Amino acid sequence: MTSASPAAAGAGFSAGGFPLEPVERASVDELRALQLERLRGTLRHAWEGVPHYRKRFEAAGVHPDDLKSLDDLARFPFTTKGDLRENYPFGMFAVPRDRVVRIHASSGTTGKPTVVGYTRKDIDTWSDLVARSIRAAGARPGDMVHVSYGYGLFTGGLGAHYGAERLGLTVVPFGGGQTERQVQLIADFRPDIIMVTPSYMLAIADELERSGLDPRESSLRIGIFGAEPWTNEMRAEIEKRLAIDAVDIYGLSEVMGPGVANECVETKDGPTIWEDHFYPEIVDPETGRVLPDGEFGELVFTSLTKEALPIVRYRTRDLTRLLPGTARTMRRMQKITGRSDDMMIIRGVNVFPSQIEELILQRPNLAPHYVCELGREDHMDTLTVRVELKGGEHHDRSAAVGAAAALEHAIKSYIGVTVRVLVEPPGAVERSIGKAKRVVDKRPKA
Ligand code: DLL
Repeated sequence: MTSASPAAAGAGFSAGGFPLEPVERASVDELRALQLERLRGTLRHAWEGVPHYRKRFEAAGVHPDDLKSLDDLARFPFTTKGDLRENYPFGMFAVPRDRVVRIHASSGTTGKPTVVGYTRKDIDTWSDLVARSIRAAGARPGDMVHVSYGYGLFTGGLGAHYGAERLGLTVVPFGGGQTERQVQLIADFRPDIIMVTPSYMLAIADELERSGLDPRESSLRIGIFGAEPWTNEMRAEIEKRLAIDAVDIYGLSEVMGPGVANECVETKDGPTIWEDHFYPEIVDPETGRVLPDGEFGELVFTSLTKEALPIVRYRTRDLTRLLPGTARTMRRMQKITGRSDDMMIIRGVNVFPSQIEELILQRPNLAPHYVCELGREDHMDTLTVRVELKGGEHHDRSAAVGAAAALEHAIKSYIGVTVRVLVEPPGAVERSIGKAKRVVDKRPKA
């Protein structure tokens, strides 16, 4: 399925035949030297332009000049979502407001949104990096891209859009929702690439089938999926169902938006971090200690070239590890297994929705639509997993009960927790049109 063309064979070209940028082939030493130089610039820019950073640096007893090597970054304080909220709306901007050409914001579940800003040059860099990402995913010159990430304050739609245009591709700026119409335009326009959350891709595939189309026969060749955690099992399911290459795009608004990292289609072994613009660290989520490459922990990013919103040691809450480069010299991150926010603790055992997802996808009679509901009984947290039988399966009660018992057993054996599984008819679990909400907290409020 991988789309390497003979013309693309050999160094210096992407799988789809676009030339690579020289920095994508830089040696690790060259990259580290570039990062050190740019990191100095970012620390100074943050210190000079943002009173919050200056205060934090002073409280920690550090000055931008203290950065002599990349390891010295560990002496600088972390930044969290809370810092952005405290400085709502524009207090973290390092340039005058009239140099900011774009604002994005994430709604968040509670409190004020997190607001981010971009200068003209930031938008340029972002477009370049999403273009690089789409190239890494296997795009070919002349491709058409259907964008189903939401447009608006969310960075997904406009981020994908500017990148696809920058690469010179034809963009269909659909946005999220109106699934029937999405399917109609996919059938009529015949796009080669779709950019969408993996959970919404499944809803689009369902709709293709409902309208009598075989998802494997669609024009789509590549899906660039992100904005939410998804497992390799989900990748296999999507690739089988749609006969496409499913490639992972990662990013977050505080650091830029989509395109901080992207998988290369020829390896599909975790997103390559665009290290010329973002410096990654993995830290112990409890102590904040920096961990060596290869160890699991929380991903932390420092921007290297951003003007409007330089970000220093931003705690993403995403859990992963750093791996050596393969298709590129830059390091990769392992596909995200979950966010620390999504971790459920059931009778002392830490459980992530992705672990449940893996087990659901191993069962051929279950559909990959699921939600984890937290409850409380006798002062103990309980977990109910709601999932669906696949379309075409027998939907009688005994089939559902049997499938539920089998999944409960698998979860007990592989994860070590006792959960309740409810197997429901197709369509019973609410579909997302953007990021899927995998954990629903139904515990009584204290
Ligand atoms: O979700 C940016 C984005 C848009 C990325 C479209 C990819 C595609 P935020 O709304 O700020 O930004 O949410 C960022 O989403 O910290 C992760 O927890 C999660 N996330 C994003 N991409 C991935 C991915 C956008 N590929 C948060 N795998 C991040 C797992 C992801 N989680």
